[in-house]
Amino acid sequence: MLYEPYQIKNLVLKNRVVMPPMCMYSANTLGFANDFHFVHYATRAIGGVGLIIQEATATLPNGRISVNDLGIWSDDHIAGLKKIVDGIHSNGSVAGIQINHAGRKAKVERPIGPSAVSYSDDYQLPAEMTLEEIEEVVLSFKEAARRADQAGYDLLEIHGAHGYLIFQFLSPISNLRTDKYKDGKVFLKEVVEAIVEVWPKEKVLALRVSGTEYVEGGVTPVTISEAINSVKDLGIDIIDVSSGGNVLVKINAFPGYQLELAKQVSELTGLPVMGGGLITDLRLADHAVASKKCDLVYLGRLLLRDPYVVINQASEMGVVIPYPVQYLRGKKA
Ligand SMILES: Cc1cc2nc3c(=O)[nH]c(=O)nc-3n(C[C@H](O)[C@H](O)[C@H](O)COP(=O)(O)O)c2cc1C
Repeated sequence: MLYEPYQIKNLVLKNRVVMPPMCMYSANTLGFANDFHFVHYATRAIGGVGLIIQEATATLPNGRISVNDLGIWSDDHIAGLKKIVDGIHSNGSVAGIQINHAGRKAKVERPIGPSAVSYSDDYQLPAEMTLEEIEEVVLSFKEAARRADQAGYDLLEIHGAHGYLIFQFLSPISNLRTDKYKDGKVFLKEVVEAIVEVWPKEKVLALRVSGTEYVEGGVTPVTISEAINSVKDLGIDIIDVSSGGNVLVKINAFPGYQLELAKQVSELTGLPVMGGGLITDLRLADHAVASKKCDLVYLGRLLLRDPYVVINQASEMGVVIPYPVQYLRGKKA
């Protein structure tokens, strides 16, 4: 089933494999894409990945995880991003982008967050966001969505996972506010409402979440699904289910460790889901789809070390798919 097409709205993926967003910290300090990004993403498209979601791309300079994050806070970024999109499209894949504000996890002079609570001793204490700052960030997501559309992306993923700003609002561990934003769903809703004003209805809108924080008092599959349900009718098409990232805690990770979470979130929200985690064998990915744990499977680190795993493992699994003609003489017998 992994190699069967998947349709969502008018978007057809040629298979169920997703390259999830993975920060490469390789942009210049102004957030511009360069040759590394053009080659990196086009290579995974040549390698047969159905959907490629570009790494967390910052909606504001103070929302960067590092000074080398890709940026989408200026119209000047659009041309470089369009080149990434074109490289993905011309090699037969579908292009997504994850937009992010890192909040208290931003490595900047003055990080901001819902409350003055730091992530760990290695991170600065964030300033509690003023209402003006909240408004500015919400607007930055809207502007980022408009630019992503102009650059030609087929799918927009809102980063609501891993302890970045949206998740910081959703978690009772990082959100100690007493105003209306004490309910983190209010901030999420404002972000989604702003985005759908400009992100075309016919294109796909995804939301990435952490389905659990692995600690008492943190977000659970039930509470995160409530948050999803509070915005899904605004136009969320699919949920990308991950976990952790808001609290320093040891995670017991094993091949497919987040698949059950994906299934739970799908059952509680009625939305299609992407799932994965430590998958190194496409037979496990195939089983995840066949056993309805998730609709799409992401392969992160596997695709970093082996961009051609999708086309190469196909024949081992008895699946016939087109092989890049340029590489036919290198195909395993
Ligand atoms: C180098 C690296 C960078 C990552 N950057 C992001 C990111 O920008 N956004 C995000 O949501 N997840 C990020 N992740 C998490 C991956 O998207 C993925 O969920 C995680 O690696 C688990 O999948 P895997 O076990 O198949 O690698 C990153 C992971 C890695 C290894």
